[in-house]
Amino acid sequence: MTMNNKVACVFGGTGFVGRQVVRELAEKGFVVKVATRVPERAYFLKLVGAVGQIVPLQCDYRDEKSIAAAVKDSDFVVNCIGILFEKGKTRKFQHVHVDLPAMIASVCKKVGVKKFVHMSALGIDKSTSKYAKTKLEGEAAVQSNFSAATILRPSIIFGEDDSFFNMFAEMARYIPVLPLIGGGKTKFQPVYVGDVADAVMAALENKAAQGQVYELGGPDIISFKEVYERLFSHTGRRRCLVNISFGFAKVEATFMSLLPYPPLTRDQVESLKTDNVVAKTAQGLEDLGVTPTAMDVILPTYLESYRRGGRFADVKTG
Ligand SMILES: NC(=O)c1ccc[n+]([C@@H]2O[C@H](COP(=O)([O-])OP(=O)(O)OC[C@H]3O[C@@H](n4cnc5c(N)ncnc54)[C@H](OP(=O)(O)O)[C@@H]3O)[C@@H](O)[C@H]2O)c1
Repeated sequence: MTMNNKVACVFGGTGFVGRQVVRELAEKGFVVKVATRVPERAYFLKLVGAVGQIVPLQCDYRDEKSIAAAVKDSDFVVNCIGILFEKGKTRKFQHVHVDLPAMIASVCKKVGVKKFVHMSALGIDKSTSKYAKTKLEGEAAVQSNFSAATILRPSIIFGEDDSFFNMFAEMARYIPVLPLIGGGKTKFQPVYVGDVADAVMAALENKAAQGQVYELGGPDIISFKEVYERLFSHTGRRRCLVNISFGFAKVEATFMSLLPYPPLTRDQVESLKTDNVVAKTAQGLEDLGVTPTAMDVILPTYLESYRRGGRFADVKTG
């Protein structure tokens, strides 16, 4: 691996999207600082680079000095921090989606970071969920503190460690009936995690991407019901689908929210009321030079393990 003498700092690099970004930055020869609340969580990433190339850094996300220490001497900064639900007093949308990105962007400006990429989410300009409203407010906060920031808005992201397809595949393993919330009509445009990381690289390399917003979607636009259909075909486990109204789903979600990692919250049900597809007028993956990968190329590579008898169940031996 040839080092390029540049330093990148990734916030949320331990997460599903962040670790793919760290991998690609390492492949391109960057020294990658992984800012995280718990450095031990980032140790596994050391294996994706040469010795000393990946540097986990403890960061207190409420302390500007700690953030400044993390981004110091970085050429590029990428923010992949985000949460899907609130919990207790510390896990709050306002802090994670608005105050923290605002602080990171303002520190980046002060210390002279060259390029900043912020991971947002698709459909947030239409949805009334708290997740969406705070993500949108976070974008504005980033833009006002670092006007040249590139904002990426992905639809649901798929890939080996995703929480979306893996969660439904896991549910289909044990539950004979699965819910079609709001009739399963909500549309998604799932995008491959490798393409999202490629978009980050393109945004960092391409001057024209500065100050721009890109909406990232894959080649397939599918309804929630079709998501289940894809899942059934790749896992070989067909389940009954039952229509439930948004109102009833919210009642169910109220109880699920008591769990430490709720599979569904009232706010997520609210998100399902609006489609999650790239706007016709928006700039997208192709504008960044990235060709979107089809779901059916990637899904079988990890959903096969949910087949009865596992991945090699159909392999004939002898
Ligand atoms: N996955 C998707 O389908 C999807 C779709 C659209 C948009 N996005 C956006 O893409 C970004 C990355 O998503 P992801 O799926 O990679 O998320 P993820 O796997 O949950 O990781 C997010 C990161 O956020 C940090 N984090 C978690 N809880 C936190 C808290 N309470 N306070 C502060 N930081 C916290 C963690 O970093 P440390 O523990 O290392 O500190 C974690 O690595 C997010 O902004 C998300 O909104 C994701």
